[in-house]
Amino acid sequence: MIAVADKPVVVYGASGYTGRLICEYLREYHVPFIAAGRNGGTLKAAMEANVAGIETADYEIAEVSHDAGALTSLFSGAEVVLNTVGPFSQLGPAVVEACLASGTHYLDTTGEQDWLVTCDEKYGAGFAAAGLLLAPGVAQMYTTGEIAAELCLERPGLDTLDIAVFWGGSPTIASTLTILVNAALAGAYYLEQNKYVPWDPEAGLYQLVIPGQHELALALPWGGTSHPVWYRRDPRVANVKVLGGVFNRPLMLGVPQIVAAAVEATKDMPPDEQYAALTATAAQVMNQMPPRENPRVNKSLDSVHASGPLGRAHCVIHGNSNYKQTGLLQAYAAYSLLQQPPKRVGFASGCKAFGHRELLGVLSSFGLVREPVVTTGS
Ligand SMILES: NC(=O)c1ccc[n+]([C@@H]2O[C@H](COP(=O)([O-])OP(=O)(O)OC[C@H]3O[C@@H](n4cnc5c(N)ncnc54)[C@H](OP(=O)(O)O)[C@@H]3O)[C@@H](O)[C@H]2O)c1
Repeated sequence: MIAVADKPVVVYGASGYTGRLICEYLREYHVPFIAAGRNGGTLKAAMEANVAGIETADYEIAEVSHDAGALTSLFSGAEVVLNTVGPFSQLGPAVVEACLASGTHYLDTTGEQDWLVTCDEKYGAGFAAAGLLLAPGVAQMYTTGEIAAELCLERPGLDTLDIAVFWGGSPTIASTLTILVNAALAGAYYLEQNKYVPWDPEAGLYQLVIPGQHELALALPWGGTSHPVWYRRDPRVANVKVLGGVFNRPLMLGVPQIVAAAVEATKDMPPDEQYAALTATAAQVMNQMPPRENPRVNKSLDSVHASGPLGRAHCVIHGNSNYKQTGLLQAYAAYSLLQQPPKRVGFASGCKAFGHRELLGVLSSFGLVREPVVTTGS
């Protein structure tokens, strides 16, 4: 097994669309890293062909099998693991367990609510006892929206968050599979008085007024998202509802049908067979790497209405290049952890671990989000 003593960060799933972007930003932060994954040849090709500036990065490639033992050996000697191998509810446990066994901080790019709940309830205490960070979901969905929520919550007296998250572009291969697996195998919950309440799975598309356009946007609960989990034990907040999706209306109109057909076709299968069938369906929907993002096409919108008994605040963050935002947030988090402890150990969101103003500054300074628009009293 490769020695990682001089490479403090492991990017697991580095050959993927998001993994490559993380490597790109680690290089910009001058952080040495291991590009790890299941296929050494694919990793080498991805680094050399798809990571801008890789010839000046300090990195090594490590092929590793997806089991906790092999991953523990690889991670021993590193300080931070950045995991992009999803769906995380299926593939995350081995990586989290390897991080705990090797004494490594764990971050990933999930937006799966059920995986966040598992991390919080099953693994959080172990990480906290070891003084390690367990931060699933340091990613555009939903850290950028969390930054918007936190900007509202800088004012006291707000206990309810009504959040919209939209983006433009094509989901990647693993993102498509993740959306399907999540929709078929997990419920979606919002938060009401600090308790999880299920969204109605039959409700279909919601029509949303979103900032910056006249046409109503089509939205779904999108698996419930991360915010209800992050805020469940935050004394400032009691209620969180999130709706979102892609700006592309025809695609949004198709999503419920694709999901319903996949759920119907697989509902009586045993779990392994069901996962394989969902993988096959996802591959029919998306089986190629999307092009590199273009800020004129790939846009993000995060809007939070925060309210309380007498208070109101609204924050909007317009941004671009969602996957780049994710790559940058992951790389910055690793860079930060190499220099100072996180603000919180155990299960924590990106903002709770690194600070929302800090993360906003990072995204702004790389040109990925514009100055948030905060309106109070609205
Ligand atoms: N929340 C957000 O905003 C956000 C943003 C970006 C990504 N994500 C999530 O992050 C995940 C990765 O996305 P992506 O865009 O990087 O997808 P991707 O381009 O399809 O890459 C997936 C990566 O995972 C690896 N992989 C897949 N199955 C594996 C397995 N069984 N064992 C080991 N490695 C495996 C792939 O390796 P090979 O190259 O060998 O196939 C590749 O490195 C998805 O779940 C996606 O939903 C979320």
